[in-house]
Amino acid sequence: MPTINPVRFKFMQAIITFMMMMLQVVCAEEEIMCIEREREALLQFKAALVDDYGMLSSWTTSDCCQWQGIRCTNLTGHVLMLDLHSLGLSGEIHQSLMELQQLNYLNLSFNYFLGRGIPEFLGSLTNLRYLDLSFSHFGGKIPTQFGSLSHLKYLNLALNSLEASIPRQLGNLSQLQHLDLRGNLFEGKLPSQIGNLSRLQHLDLSGNRFEGNIPSEIGNLSQLLHLDLRYSSFEGSIPSQLGNLSNLQKVYLGGSFYDDDGALKIDDGGHWLSNLISLTHLSFDSISNLNTSHSFLQMIAKLPKLRELSLSNFSLSDHFILPLRPSKFNFSSSLSVLDLSINSFTSSMILQWLSNVTSNLVELDLSHNLLEGSTSSMILQWLPSKPFWPCNEFS
Ligand SMILES: *[C@@H]1O[C@H](CO)[C@@H](O)[C@H](O)[C@H]1NC(C)=O
Ligand SMILES: *[C@@H]1O[C@H](CO)[C@@H](O)[C@H](O)[C@H]1NC(C)=O
Ligand SMILES: *[C@@H]1O[C@H](CO)[C@@H](O)[C@H](O)[C@H]1NC(C)=O
Ligand SMILES: *[C@@H]1O[C@H](CO)[C@@H](O)[C@H](O)[C@H]1NC(C)=O
Ligand SMILES: *[C@@H]1O[C@H](CO)[C@@H](O)[C@H](O)[C@H]1NC(C)=O
Ligand SMILES: *[C@@H]1O[C@H](CO)[C@@H](O)[C@H](O)[C@H]1NC(C)=O
Ligand SMILES: *[C@@H]1O[C@H](CO)[C@@H](O)[C@H](O)[C@H]1NC(C)=O
Ligand SMILES: *[C@@H]1O[C@H](CO)[C@@H](O)[C@H](O)[C@H]1NC(C)=O
Ligand SMILES: *[C@@H]1O[C@H](CO)[C@@H](O)[C@H](O)[C@H]1NC(C)=O
Ligand SMILES: *[C@@H]1O[C@H](CO)[C@@H](O)[C@H](O)[C@H]1NC(C)=O
Repeated sequence: MPTINPVRFKFMQAIITFMMMMLQVVCAEEEIMCIEREREALLQFKAALVDDYGMLSSWTTSDCCQWQGIRCTNLTGHVLMLDLHSLGLSGEIHQSLMELQQLNYLNLSFNYFLGRGIPEFLGSLTNLRYLDLSFSHFGGKIPTQFGSLSHLKYLNLALNSLEASIPRQLGNLSQLQHLDLRGNLFEGKLPSQIGNLSRLQHLDLSGNRFEGNIPSEIGNLSQLLHLDLRYSSFEGSIPSQLGNLSNLQKVYLGGSFYDDDGALKIDDGGHWLSNLISLTHLSFDSISNLNTSHSFLQMIAKLPKLRELSLSNFSLSDHFILPLRPSKFNFSSSLSVLDLSINSFTSSMILQWLSNVTSNLVELDLSHNLLEGSTSSMILQWLPSKPFWPCNEFS
C-alpha cells in the first residue's frame, strides 16, 4: 500500500470540502420554495379551470415552483412566469391569480375559454411584460383596465372572437413593442391614441371590421418594423404620414372580406412610399385607384430592398405597365416573389417586361388575369423554380 503524503491528503480534503460546500449552495438554491399564499392562489385558480387532459396533475406537491408551467425567482420564490399554452384548458380564470403580483409572463394561448370574457382583473397584474391570450376562444371586449399594464411589452389577443372597439386606454401602454389583434371581430374607429405607442415595432390588426380611416397618428410610431392592416375594412386615403416610418420592413394594406367595404385609396401619387427605403415586403390588395396614376409604381420602383411585392386586384393592364422603363427599378435584383393576380393583363409581353425588370424572381402569380396563348410553357422555361400559374383564361 502506498502511503499518502499528508500534504497531498490535506489538499484533497480541502478540495472535497469545497465541493461539498458547492453542492450545498446548489441544493440551497433548489430548496427555495414557492410562497404559500401564491401556492394557495394557484390551487384556487386550478380548481376553477376545467383540465380535461390532466395537464395540471403535477399541481399538488408542496413546492409550486416545480409545477408544470411555473417559474419562480430563485431569490424570493415569487411566481414570475405562468405558461399554460396548448393544454386544452377551459372553464373560468379565477381572480385568485391577482395574488401573483410579481408575475411578468402569462401565456394562456391555444386553450378553450369558449366565448368567456377576458378577466378585467388581469389589468391589476401591473408587472406583466408578456401577455399572450391568442387563439383561446375568448369573447367580449378588451378590458379598459389593460391601460394600467404600464410595463407590458408584448400583447397578443389574436384569433379570438373579441368584439367592440379598441379601448383608447391601450394608448397608455408606453412600453409596448408587439401588438397583435388580428382575426377578431373588432369594430368602430381605431383610436388615435394608438399613435402614443411610441415603442411599437409590430402592429397587426388584420382581419377585423373597423370603420373609418386609418388614423394618421400611426405615422408617429417611429420604431415600427411590421404593419399589417389587411382585411380590416378601413376606408378612405392611406395616411401619407406612413412615409415617416423609414424603419418599416413589412407593410400589408388593403383587401376586403365584405362586399360593403369601402376601399382604400392612395393620394398624391403615393410619394410617401419612396421614403420607406427599408421595405422588404409590400402588399397592396384591392386599393381602388392604383390604376389611375403611374406615379405610385414609380415610387415602388425606387425601393432598393424589396423582396416580396403583391399588387393584386387593381385592374392593372398591359398598356398601364408596359411603358414603364425597366432601367428605373431599384429592386431588380432583390425581388424574388411577385403577385400580380386578379388584374387585367392580356398579352405575354408582360412576361418579357418582367424578365427585363427583375433578375432573381423565383415565384410569380399571374392567376386570374386574361392571358392568352401558350404563355405557360414560356414561363416554365423562364422561371426555374416554383412557377405558380393556375386559373387563366387561355384561348
Ligand atoms: C438565478 O437563476 C439564474 C438562471 O437560472 C442564474 O443565472 C442566477 O445566477 C441565479 N441567481 C442567484 C442569486 O442564484
Ligand atoms: C405562448 O405560447 C405559444 C405556443 O407555444 C408561443 O407560440 C408564443 O410565442 C408564446 N407567447 C409568448 C409571449 O412567449
Ligand atoms: C393612462 O395614463 C394616464 C396618465 O398617463 C393616467 O391618468 C390614466 O389613469 C391611465 N389610464 C389607465 C386606464 O390606466
Ligand atoms: C398621447 O401623447 C400625447 C403627446 O405625447 C399626449 O398629449 C396625450 O395625453 C397622450 N394620450 C394618452 C391617452 O396617453
Ligand atoms: C402624432 O400625429 C399627429 C397627426 O399625424 C400629429 O398631429 C401629432 O403631433 C403627433 N404627436 C406626436 C406626439 O408626435
Ligand atoms: C410626417 O409626415 C408628414 C406628412 O407626410 C410631414 O408633414 C411631417 O413633417 C412628418 N413628420 C416627421 C416628424 O417626419
Ligand atoms: C377586388 O377589389 C374590389 C374593390 O376594389 C372588391 O370589391 C372585390 O371584392 C375585390 N375582389 C377580390 C377577389 O378580392
Ligand atoms: C381602374 O379600375 C377600375 C375598377 O377598379 C376600372 O373601372 C377602371 O376602368 C380602371 N381604369 C383604368 C385606367 O384602367
Ligand atoms: C434608385 O435608383 C435611382 C436611379 O434609377 C437612384 O437615383 C436612386 O438613388 C436609387 N434609390 C435608392 C434608394 O437606392
Ligand atoms: C426588354 O428588353 C429588351 C432589350 O433591352 C427590349 O428590346 C424590349 O423591348 C424589352 N421588352 C419590354 C416588354 O420591356
